[in-house]
Amino acid sequence: MVSPDNFQLPEQLSTGAAEVDDLYMFVYWFSLIFTAIIVAVMIYCIVKFRRRPGVKAEPVGHNLVLELVWTFAPVVFIAILFHLGFKVYVHNAVAQEGAMEIRVRGRQWLWEFQYPNGSTATNELKLPVGKPVKFIISSDDVLHSFYVPGARLKRDAVPGMYTNITFTPNKLGPMQVFCAEYCGTSHSGMLSMIEVMTPEAFQKFLDEGDKPPAGTSPEEYGATLYKKNACNTCHSVDGAKMPGPTWKGLWGKQEQMADGSTVTVDENYIKESILKPQAKITAGFTTTQMPPFTLKDPQIDAIIAYMKTLK
Ligand code: CUA
Repeated sequence: MVSPDNFQLPEQLSTGAAEVDDLYMFVYWFSLIFTAIIVAVMIYCIVKFRRRPGVKAEPVGHNLVLELVWTFAPVVFIAILFHLGFKVYVHNAVAQEGAMEIRVRGRQWLWEFQYPNGSTATNELKLPVGKPVKFIISSDDVLHSFYVPGARLKRDAVPGMYTNITFTPNKLGPMQVFCAEYCGTSHSGMLSMIEVMTPEAFQKFLDEGDKPPAGTSPEEYGATLYKKNACNTCHSVDGAKMPGPTWKGLWGKQEQMADGSTVTVDENYIKESILKPQAKITAGFTTTQMPPFTLKDPQIDAIIAYMKTLK
């Protein structure tokens, strides 16, 4: 992806990228122009003052003005460059008030992301366009480096401490994430994508939670969620006796409740039992140890689909 206005750098995908590029281009042209001037003067002097027969070299002696100019001109230039660079650095290091906090954890060899609502994703982060994001970066094992070229930002993930960067995505679409610190065999495979979406689509994603991988049936997704949410620690799927009712043959059953009423195991009952486990207790299961699970409808539907297969 080459930006039309800059052949050297990838497309600018954050509001701060232009600032970094402007600074880069300034330093680039500054260096190029001074290199050209210095080389031109050198060539002129080499030709003009070359050794010729009959001309004797004379020492120039001390020139106070020249000494002062070549001492203080570079000092002024460096002070200007430092000022410009530091300003951009601070912009990219200090998050705006109200920035969305995303946790980034580097691990051999993947990036794990955690949203403000606690849900996590591996190697795939979704962000709303136009909203500042603060990335709080840590490592579970060795040194990694969280590198987002589209935002012109890179920060080490250091074991035992938090580092952070901030940027505001300004274009819809994908942003590539690399690991920029050699971290072992699969370092080059430690890649992630950031998908920048509209704020509405992002909110919808947060509300509905993660989608199953493409090609996964609801039943298979439900089976994954059964393990992922640790339902399997209390509910068997083969009729074995565990702290909670088995899921085998549960669907559609007339279930006797502890208060004497009878309930048909249907969508509403399952949904209620996941979100508010204490609402109805099955007879014979007086222990009320199940915590509420904050699953979204697509996940609950998948668990129901899985449950239906357990005849
Ligand atoms: Cu992680 Cu290289």
